[in-house]
Amino acid sequence: MTVQLTPQNNLSGDPKKAAQGFGRRATSAPPHFQLATELRDALSYFETHGFVVVKEALASAELETLNAFFDHSQQAHPDQWGLGARRKPHHRNQGLILSQPLLDHPELDQWLRHPGVFPLIEAALGGTDAVRWSEFNFRETPANAGQGQMNFHHDAVMADRLIRAPYGPCDWVCSIHYLTDVNDETPSFCVVPGSQRFETLRDAYETLGDAYAETPIYGPAGTAVIYDTAIYHTRLDGNGEASRRTWHQYYARGGFTQSALPQTNRYIRPPSPPLTDWNLIPKRLAEHTDPGLRLFFSHWNTAQGEWVARNYDPAFRAAMPRGEVTQ
Ligand SMILES: [Fe+2]
Repeated sequence: MTVQLTPQNNLSGDPKKAAQGFGRRATSAPPHFQLATELRDALSYFETHGFVVVKEALASAELETLNAFFDHSQQAHPDQWGLGARRKPHHRNQGLILSQPLLDHPELDQWLRHPGVFPLIEAALGGTDAVRWSEFNFRETPANAGQGQMNFHHDAVMADRLIRAPYGPCDWVCSIHYLTDVNDETPSFCVVPGSQRFETLRDAYETLGDAYAETPIYGPAGTAVIYDTAIYHTRLDGNGEASRRTWHQYYARGGFTQSALPQTNRYIRPPSPPLTDWNLIPKRLAEHTDPGLRLFFSHWNTAQGEWVARNYDPAFRAAMPRGEVTQ
């Protein structure tokens, strides 16, 4: 990928500059893959770059359904979205977020393993039996949200990612579906391709050299981005006026898998740990009659363990951050 240096480039040693990127933007867009016919190529691209873009991951009727859910739930449950008078700290600088819609909306279960991206999720995490659910939420940057200036960061990582061999399958994967059109005027997801095995963004910048490129992901509604949570990424704000809606789902790797560390022949990677200490799984999914779905929902955090022991007590949930009970 070719890159150009822009005036924002700064290597002064100021860690804040590094955290907000080096201003070296990609000059070409990454490829968009059609999963139905290009799964193998898409997986290969993901394994090399730590992300991949999938085109037409959602059909127009599905986009209508999900956008209608946004409209309806924002009207019916403004506090769950952070739209009410009780705007919460974890919503600041993130726009709006409906953190745990699965708890109250069984109609969303149909989206959990959506065929538009799920074959790639399975391949990235090591096969059908290796995918575990971690998180599902909806987010919106409303119109005129201004400039949030999110820093480049990675999400959850395991320290062994820097030295294990083979690297894959990765520890967690996230899918972001664009539910509205995304371009340079709207907020957009932005990645540094190939940065998933660096301790800092500066390490990636200095080691990748000419290959270092801060790469915005644009695309029409229905486009999906699948990324390894270890890759450096951020949200660009666009013009601060246009809005954007997205659906985010995180998945973890389950089971035990063989790898190796330097000077160690045998190294067994256990299942990835819980992604958060607050995401809850409703009873209908945690105790589903389908053993495959139970396995999919088998990564419980400590909050889930206590909630199950309390027989899914709504009062326990209501006392948690992001646990607001729908009326
Ligand atoms: Fe992130």
